Amino acid sequence: MRIDIISVLPELLESPLQHSIMKRAQEKGLLAVYTHSLRKWAVNEYGQVDDYQYGGGAGMVMMCEPLANAVESLQQERKYDEVIYMTPDGVTLNQQMANTLSLQENIIIICGHYKGIDERIREHFITLEISIGDYVLSGGELAAAVLTDTIGRLLPGVLNDETSALFDSFQDNLLAPPVYTRPEDFRGWKVPDILLGGNHKLIDEWRLDQSLERTKKRRPDILKD
Ligand code: ADE
Repeated sequence: MRIDIISVLPELLESPLQHSIMKRAQEKGLLAVYTHSLRKWAVNEYGQVDDYQYGGGAGMVMMCEPLANAVESLQQERKYDEVIYMTPDGVTLNQQMANTLSLQENIIIICGHYKGIDERIREHFITLEISIGDYVLSGGELAAAVLTDTIGRLLPGVLNDETSALFDSFQDNLLAPPVYTRPEDFRGWKVPDILLGGNHKLIDEWRLDQSLERTKKRRPDILKD
């Protein structure tokens, strides 16, 4: 899968996408992430990509021309399945959306800044608007990194144990059960006996039970009937 991210601050995306699982996904050739500085398509030699908003008011707006040229220059090279705009007023990201997006070939992600992007770009280029939660970040880069990470780890072959993403919280609308590692007894706090017994049928039942309890208590809103 290929993800192209357009940003005025591509440096912000470097660290989160160059370590750990995202690094491995790219090294294995399963994920290709390209970051593009929007200033490459600036309207003048000063690197201008934003301007005052019509109607007045504080805050700059990202201009149409650099964004349109950036998207079109990428679209000339290949077909994109989605052109995504990261914005707090988009649909809230969840695991189901990440699963669906992980099946795509090529996507573009646009990171907003300042007051956001000119509405005409949203109307004519953007196919999906995504928020990562009901709070406002200084820009869309961290949100784009979150989206890229959650999609990237779902690509087949990225995780060592391929089944492990299937047991993540939110797959099947359940939170993950508690996990333990050595020692069996830490300061008198014991690992549940059932996990030490080696009976995998009982362990699976216990885990499902714990998942259900945890979801009922913490996230009753996601629990299916
Ligand atoms: N840009 C600023 N805040 C954001 C959010 N919550 N989600 C996505 N993009 C954003």
